[in-house]
Amino acid sequence: MKINSDRLWETHLAAATMTEAGSPYTRRSFTPQYREMRSWLTDAFAQTGLEVKTDAAGNLLGIYRGRTEKNVGVGSHTDTVPCGGRFDGISGVLSFLEAARCMKENGYVPQKNIVGIDFLAEEPSEFRLSCIGSRLATGNFNENMLQLKHRQTGELLSAAIQDWGGDISLLAPGHSLFDATKFDGFLELHIEQGPVLEKKQLDVGLVTGICSVTRYDFTVKGRADHAGNTPMNLRSDAVVAAAKLINGISEIARGTLSKGPYFTATVGKVDVFPNGSNVIAEQVDFTLDIRCETNQLVDETLQDIFALAADTAGKTATTISHVKISQSQPSISSERLLSVLEKNAIELNLQYTRMLSGAGHDAAYMSTVMPMAMIFIPCRKGRSHTASEYSAKHQIAKGANLLLQSLIELTSSD
Ligand code: GLV
Ligand code: MN
Ligand code: MN
Repeated sequence: MKINSDRLWETHLAAATMTEAGSPYTRRSFTPQYREMRSWLTDAFAQTGLEVKTDAAGNLLGIYRGRTEKNVGVGSHTDTVPCGGRFDGISGVLSFLEAARCMKENGYVPQKNIVGIDFLAEEPSEFRLSCIGSRLATGNFNENMLQLKHRQTGELLSAAIQDWGGDISLLAPGHSLFDATKFDGFLELHIEQGPVLEKKQLDVGLVTGICSVTRYDFTVKGRADHAGNTPMNLRSDAVVAAAKLINGISEIARGTLSKGPYFTATVGKVDVFPNGSNVIAEQVDFTLDIRCETNQLVDETLQDIFALAADTAGKTATTISHVKISQSQPSISSERLLSVLEKNAIELNLQYTRMLSGAGHDAAYMSTVMPMAMIFIPCRKGRSHTASEYSAKHQIAKGANLLLQSLIELTSSD
């Protein structure tokens, strides 16, 4: 059985049309464009003969019924970052859809149900949280998270979950919506979002583990004054303080290169108030995003960053505060699932390597309740989270065929 690569490519093009006009490809979670995508996917799942439902966490499920109560999960996400790409997350959901279409066309009846999942809001949302659907569905949250407010509208995350078809009364910290005794495992196909596969001219990466994601919000408070009449030695400039601190964070992160474990620190979201060219900034808010193989190194590095923040505040006559938004644990893939992927990659004559994921994925949360493994496919120049993100039709097709064949192996016996 082989997937139809033209059809899989066409669904990518169709999904790409559901974007904010003027800033392709932007389909942020909880927006009209995201609703349009969900409605398109609901129809596509139903037309394929899948049972469609939304779980209590707002994840959209397309269930390919099998003969028993056992299940295998598969999926990814369809929201994007601002001005993101056409493949991040989307290729995983659409590869499942294509695999399901192909299995139906070939009359395949699995022993286990194949539960395809479009996870709600994987990217950092206006609620300041990422992986909302997979976090909530696997019980990896605390009550405060449900009280987070939408940056623009002030809506509570709990209300948004209800609005997107969820049911917060069925969610609880530590409680998984997936009955682990009935799930054999979870697979996610995703673009690599880095340069390794392309550089090594490989077809797929088999993901051995996923780095943890740690996020802190920083607030730098200075004093708004006139840009012309305030002498340089009498300023309390929040932009200058933030710039020093952000540069210092980057230096600290570079310093970890010699320590062994993979580590990144990024400040990609910065808000300046009041943001006027002739006004000394009163306040700068920014978010620090850290990825690492081990949270021990994260904790050590954070101590250096906090010390630098205190020092910078002293030297710039500002105050700097920080609050933890979230921290996940690094996850390790299932060796059993990795060997299923490896065996099928060999059978399909694919060139592959085992590799770590620096990016976060819904699969990381799924790994807290069931065995997990991921398939990476190459993307051009390793670019991602940008409109120039690109994987070729044949590259996606190779990964999707590996997904299809592995799903069949995992579900053809009970
Ligand atoms: C997902 O896009 C991430 O931020 O790793
Ligand atoms: Mn992403
Ligand atoms: Mn993604």
